[in-house]
Amino acid sequence: MAKKVVLAYSGGLDTSVAVRWMIENLGCEVICVSANVGQEGTLEGNREKALGAGASEYIELDLREEFARDYLAPIIKANALYEGKYPLVSALSRPLIVKHQVEVARRFGADGIAHGCTGKGNDQVRFEVSSMALAPDLELVAPVRNWGFTREDSIAYAAQHNIPIRATKEKMYSIDDNLWGRAIECGEMEDPWAEPPEGVWELTKPTATERREVTIAFEQGVPVAVDGVSMPLHEIVVHLNGVVGAYGWGRLDMVENRRVGIKSRETYEAPGGLALMLAHADLESITIERDLGREKMRLEHRYAELVYDGLWFSPLKQALDAFIESSQQFVTGEVRLALAPGQCFVVGRKAPKSLYDYGLATYDAADRFRHADSEGFVQLWGLSVKTWSSIQGTGSA
Ligand code: ARG
Repeated sequence: MAKKVVLAYSGGLDTSVAVRWMIENLGCEVICVSANVGQEGTLEGNREKALGAGASEYIELDLREEFARDYLAPIIKANALYEGKYPLVSALSRPLIVKHQVEVARRFGADGIAHGCTGKGNDQVRFEVSSMALAPDLELVAPVRNWGFTREDSIAYAAQHNIPIRATKEKMYSIDDNLWGRAIECGEMEDPWAEPPEGVWELTKPTATERREVTIAFEQGVPVAVDGVSMPLHEIVVHLNGVVGAYGWGRLDMVENRRVGIKSRETYEAPGGLALMLAHADLESITIERDLGREKMRLEHRYAELVYDGLWFSPLKQALDAFIESSQQFVTGEVRLALAPGQCFVVGRKAPKSLYDYGLATYDAADRFRHADSEGFVQLWGLSVKTWSSIQGTGSA
């Protein structure tokens, strides 16, 4: 049994109760780590709550820059959308948080890592598998998965032990957010036929009506500027959440396959992230050679699955990163996005090393394509099918 555990502490009811519960039931010391990954609610008051619940230490980390640089940039380069849609919002923050929990564990000589996830979701998988990859010697502690408390039990436990908690009223939705976007689950959305109520959306409230454009500049696959203004990636994402979200674009409503085998109805909003991924994939269309691009597309799905399934720190993900990194060498240039109510679409792209060759593509007088070469090419390309048809197919009679 672990003697000293480092808990990923959100400041919510579950993790607050978890602090005291672990002290009482496991007899261990608890160190709380709260991470700022750009979520909406501030971490204000977390120190008092953590210490009030009995934690021996409270550590707060601002991880926004690192999150963007080391976790968002790779998935933009990979065009990684789980099941073709979900930009991995929650799946990206977990490995980063674990990396820091492990650092704290080493600093304080702790022998366990704890989280406040339930047994039904993906986040427990990500916390624990990331920890196994980074620090296989550390014990994994998941109090919320094992204690069998209802929400009412947790509130009663908090009251009984004088654990300071925020609102105690019924929580409608399970929300997880960071600067890359928001995930909203539960409530009436557990009926996959029911439309998500307008009130669930925060980042994509439609307010803008005038059509406008926004230009994104990339360097080797990473967004570096918006409308000519250079910004670090985390600022670009936050800026675009505002600009693009105002058009009510960037929402997702899907039924996805969780790692534990459950189909789950999920709603997401990630206006800035989805706009960046749209622009990035488009820039690749002029900067990546055909076969490299096709192979990359095949691997993108696999990459997204690995990240979703908690394998951020794994040898296959590492090897795919090397492939993707190599593919981004010339993905430098700019993409024009147009915004209109409910819409965000590409209207132009350019790159210093663009493979788009006007002389080859044009139908006008500047045409340099050697038309005569196509005759023999098409003959040989179709030769196998022609032979098949005349002997076995419709031409054989
Ligand atoms: N289904 C999403 C995922 O697995 C979102 C999870 C959100 N987590 C939460 N505790 N509400 O990445």
